Amino acid sequence: MPTSEIAGSTALVTGASRGFGRDIATALSGIGVQVVGVARDGAQLRELRTELGESFTPVTADAADSTVAGQLIDAYRPGILVLNAGATPLPRPIQHQSWQTFSRNWDVDVQHVFHWMREALLAPLAPGSPVIAVSSGAALRGSPLPGGYSGAKATIRFITSYAAAESERDGLGITFVSVLPQLTLATALGAVGVAAYAARQSVDVPTFLADLGPALSPEQAGKAVADLVTGRRHDQGAYLLTAAGMSPVS
Ligand SMILES: NC(=O)c1ccc[n+]([C@@H]2O[C@H](COP(=O)([O-])OP(=O)(O)OC[C@H]3O[C@@H](n4cnc5c(N)ncnc54)[C@H](OP(=O)(O)O)[C@@H]3O)[C@@H](O)[C@H]2O)c1
Repeated sequence: MPTSEIAGSTALVTGASRGFGRDIATALSGIGVQVVGVARDGAQLRELRTELGESFTPVTADAADSTVAGQLIDAYRPGILVLNAGATPLPRPIQHQSWQTFSRNWDVDVQHVFHWMREALLAPLAPGSPVIAVSSGAALRGSPLPGGYSGAKATIRFITSYAAAESERDGLGITFVSVLPQLTLATALGAVGVAAYAARQSVDVPTFLADLGPALSPEQAGKAVADLVTGRRHDQGAYLLTAAGMSPVS
């Protein structure tokens, strides 16, 4: 987005109450964007409102609900959409999953990206609007413990590319990008995954983390999304995000 259009524009961030989403909301607020943050826990959203002030509007809602995306896009007309909400998967081997636990990230992560991207195309958002979906590095290589997580996150990347193609085909000028963060201990969801993989490998968490390399922080995730919005990185359909920064995924 041109710098002149960023200040005063509105971003809608799903999963803004904690983890990456909280820092994405904070980073966008820091570059002058009005942020509407969506999550189910109203108390955590209100805390962020106290921290960020009037630049942050909390909305307590289920982002995977089929009607919420359309209602909020109509109400706030966002020029930036960050689809970050995600369920914490149950980190068990496949034979210890039920279909319900295996498909948790399909019901929440994938379903919400489906609804929001569909509504972004139908609205349509204004030309030049970036839509950023949070996938996962696990989408590139699978992740045997959290069941359906990696497949769900790979599907988010596919849906993002399908939406990008529809935008181009219809001349809408909406850009669709997916970001694939590496596993990190720094969020509630990541900590569950790190603990499970360490236990699976019969090593302690510090040993597991040492093998994983430098940790990605939520602040870095926030900055990466802000860089995508300001157009400093924007030309690729998908980016791997590690502590070293973003690199295009082909
Ligand atoms: N941390 C990692 O290692 C890692 C790595 C790769 C990708 N990711 C992805 O990054 C994204 C953010 O994860 P995180 O690590 O920051 O996890 P987190 O700390 O657990 O935060 C998840 C956020 O999603 C929200 N959320 C969950 N279900 C929701 C729903 N139905 N409607 C609205 N909001 C919902 C949560 O708020 P409520 O519970 O209040 O609704 C919370 O704000 C996820 O998509 C995750 O898969 C994380």
